[in-house]
Amino acid sequence: MMTTPTTSEPEAALRLMEAVLRDGRPMASEYAQLFGPRATGHIETVEEQGEVISTCAWLRRDLVVSGLELPVAFVGSVATRADQRGKGHGTAVVERAIARAAEEGAAIALLWADESNWYQERGWVPLGTENVFVINANNAFLLPDADGVRPMEHRDLGAVHRLYCTHEARVDRRECDTEAMLTTPGLRALVREVDGEVKGYACVGRGEDLAHCVHEWGGTPEDVLPIIAGHWAATSAETDRLFVMVPETEADFTAYFTFIRSLGAKGILAMARIGDLGAVARIFDRLTPEGVTVEVVGDRSLALAGPSGRILLADHEILLALCPPRGDRRVTSVVEAEIGVELPMLPIEPYAWGLDSI
Ligand SMILES: CC(C)(COP(=O)(O)OP(=O)(O)OC[C@H]1O[C@@H](n2cnc3c(N)ncnc32)[C@H](O)[C@@H]1OP(=O)(O)O)[C@@H](O)C(=O)NCCC(=O)NCCS
Repeated sequence: MMTTPTTSEPEAALRLMEAVLRDGRPMASEYAQLFGPRATGHIETVEEQGEVISTCAWLRRDLVVSGLELPVAFVGSVATRADQRGKGHGTAVVERAIARAAEEGAAIALLWADESNWYQERGWVPLGTENVFVINANNAFLLPDADGVRPMEHRDLGAVHRLYCTHEARVDRRECDTEAMLTTPGLRALVREVDGEVKGYACVGRGEDLAHCVHEWGGTPEDVLPIIAGHWAATSAETDRLFVMVPETEADFTAYFTFIRSLGAKGILAMARIGDLGAVARIFDRLTPEGVTVEVVGDRSLALAGPSGRILLADHEILLALCPPRGDRRVTSVVEAEIGVELPMLPIEPYAWGLDSI
């Protein structure tokens, strides 16, 4: 039986997630968005004889990108009890999350998978771009000194949230969301203070994930790079490399890490499935010039029409035109050629910072 949880089910679902994903260790404090006092997340469950046997979590969020808000859902913590696997429960619980997120207006469902095969076989495709750079003994000495760098304190929250909000590509967050996520266990956060003003911050680690990874930061390179030097100084005894995540929209950082010859890789942002196709159509409408019409065709396709023709895009072709993996513009170019209009606003490069992921 598939249900929307009543009060006791979230606890039963959490116990199942902890058993499957953490060998029984607690995980609620890692995900304030799902289990904290001001949680806004949702838990889906499959139950049999009153027991939760499969579950997943999802959050409705807006991604701020290219001057618009892209409504999405983050899906995560998918778990089926070991003795109940292979019966379609995991597939069903995830489908249910996508359907409910679509009802809540999510154009796209996103997830971060350690192993993506299971999702790929269920129609999830790679989406967007995330750059990763490596700080190690060969280049760390080139970083600026960690002047003014100190551990983040609660009084820094307002400044940290303001710095977060300066990012061109981000998850739309309230200050209380940032506050809740900054208390995540395993998080090491440093700030740089100059003349009494917090000018930058950077976070490493998050619960059992993202150890030795600078997954969220804010400020200019002048202020963030000394903080990365501070993180390197604090962690180099326990690791020989520190990873730094950089969105495609932060070209100054990419240029700097390339300049110091940090090993870099252009990866994907997340795995994705289409949620509410109407919401996707509205996004295309905002991102295409006047004279281009966007129409939903059936329950899987969009038609884009312009002066020289019409093109039908289905399922993953829609995502490839909107936010392809690693910024690959080929599908967008095909659309431009077919409809006879240049589409300079496409594709877009949305980004979710480390504290938001579930
Ligand atoms: C992944 C998981 C949620 C699937 O749950 P489930 O209820 O068994 O899901 P389904 O019955 O819908 O799908 C099972 C199928 O997926 C396959 N499968 C399981 N893990 C897989 C993987 N990592 N890659 C590819 N296929 C996988 C199974 O062999 C099975 O194949 P079959 O249908 O041909 O027999 C479950 O195996 C689980 O809890 N795993 C541990 C936690 C985990 O990895 N969660 C996902 C990361 S957030």
